[in-house]
Amino acid sequence: MDFKKQIADVLSSVVSDVDKDDIFKSIEIPSDLSKGDYAFPCFKLAKVLKKAPPLIAKEISEKIIKPECVEKIEVINAYINFYIDKSLFIKDVLEKVFDKKENYGKSDLGKGKNIVIDYSSPNVAKPFHIGHLRSTVIGNALYNIFNCIGYKSVGINYLGDWGTQFGKLIVAYKNWGDKEAVEKDDIKELSRIYVKFHEEAEKNPSLDDEARNWLVKMQEGDEEALKLWKWFVDISMKEFNRIYDRLNIKFDSYKGESFYNDKMASVVKEIKEKNLLKESEGAQIVDLYEYNMPPCLILRRDGGTLYPTRDISAAIYRKKTYDFEKCIYITALDQNLHFAQWFKVLELMGYDWYKDLIHIPFGLVSLGDRKLSTRKGHVVLMEDILNSAVEKTKSIIDEKNPNLKDKEKIAEDIGIGAVIFNDLYNSRIKNVVFDLQKMLNFDGETGPYVQYTHARACSILRKAEISKIDFDIDFSLLCDDASVDVCRILNEYPDKIIDAAEKYEPYIVTRHIVALAQAFNKFYHDNSILGSDGDLKKARIALTYAVKTVLCSALSIIGIKALEEM
Ligand code: ARG
Repeated sequence: MDFKKQIADVLSSVVSDVDKDDIFKSIEIPSDLSKGDYAFPCFKLAKVLKKAPPLIAKEISEKIIKPECVEKIEVINAYINFYIDKSLFIKDVLEKVFDKKENYGKSDLGKGKNIVIDYSSPNVAKPFHIGHLRSTVIGNALYNIFNCIGYKSVGINYLGDWGTQFGKLIVAYKNWGDKEAVEKDDIKELSRIYVKFHEEAEKNPSLDDEARNWLVKMQEGDEEALKLWKWFVDISMKEFNRIYDRLNIKFDSYKGESFYNDKMASVVKEIKEKNLLKESEGAQIVDLYEYNMPPCLILRRDGGTLYPTRDISAAIYRKKTYDFEKCIYITALDQNLHFAQWFKVLELMGYDWYKDLIHIPFGLVSLGDRKLSTRKGHVVLMEDILNSAVEKTKSIIDEKNPNLKDKEKIAEDIGIGAVIFNDLYNSRIKNVVFDLQKMLNFDGETGPYVQYTHARACSILRKAEISKIDFDIDFSLLCDDASVDVCRILNEYPDKIIDAAEKYEPYIVTRHIVALAQAFNKFYHDNSILGSDGDLKKARIALTYAVKTVLCSALSIIGIKALEEM
């Protein structure tokens, strides 16, 4: 039963001047419960009908024949508000959830289409720092969100695994490195010698030449150079994978920058053949002056390729390989210009799919908790962040629930969940503050709060001691405000996922999870579930089941574990 469609039907039978589809689209869900379940704003009609919107609303409402599912129609200013018959509404929502269970919320809008998502993409041989966390977490959520609406997401970790840093690292290793130390302390030892290289190169600039020579050797396929490069990459991957495992994140492809080494020559040739390449101070560029942007660098003076060259080649490869509908890049805002430049180059090359390339920027991360700041120079390691969140969770559990089974495992899931949740709670572009105190507040709008709500629902279902939930319930018993509110939020869930995908904004799902958790906690507070009897108990348990199911799938979409007990 599609209430919105029924309302659109009756409206369009009286409003003949507007397309039915447009009517359907303009019907809103009021944020204020007391204003009904659906509302039709009459502002747009004012132009067509040349009357004041409130008058139009009044006239339409007088002509409308109330459909059976509508209990009441009310005009408030320029809005016609529709109140759906509560028990019909509840029946409709809950039957959908009972029927689809963990698949409730999924749709097939993107059926048959691929979306490539470029995220995380850390630079190898440098520590995985806090800035990469955002890309990783946002990318993973979008990956799940797009899958949920029927797309096939292709997750690509475009590793920064080529470039000058490797020449430097080879020089550093040869001068001050120690195999055992690298094996023991992996990436930390690599960053130590990398920092040392910069200190020494300031005193002795010839080290920079040496580094350049090693990069050239790498490019020429020198065995020793490539062996060391490969070793550094493997060591970094070990560290990255440890973090990805903890975050429960996987990628479909790890094709990084080095993968495009043998694919760039033909791309450069193509840019040249299309008369886009220009020499400037010895380098090869694409002039973007006309488009108010600095030139896009394609080849360095020594013939070396650059970050944009690799990105252009990778995009062409991805289009061929995945025939994507969209290819999105999740990085910090400061890379805006980089993407705008090379997207433009592809446009100038005549690829009309340049418009399907989308940069998804995000804001900065700052540390609220000062103690976290510096263990290693000024970079904050991702692992330190995760560890401190888990440590703090452990101490909270020790205080609140010391006898909890599997404490370590649960602390890990809560701590990591809190970090992810905190990152996805606001619009991407907003800066994120790491304030452990706040992130781990079990009563705030936090990861632990929603996980706890899920565990609470699980505990109710466990205590109900029923082997199977009975879905054949009397829906009219769930017409109290708190229950209706829960159902309204469940009802909106599928649209929220679509909205999140359209805006590339995981926070829309995160906030909806909070709304559902809050509504459920109010329902739990206002109504006795296990203490009620007969049909009422049955109905409330079924509602609890619906909430638990949706909380669980929504949490997994944003990359957080739903815990049964905590
Ligand atoms: N490796 C880059 C960095 O750490 C991010 C790469 C983003 N993806 C891309 N296709 N450029 O800043």
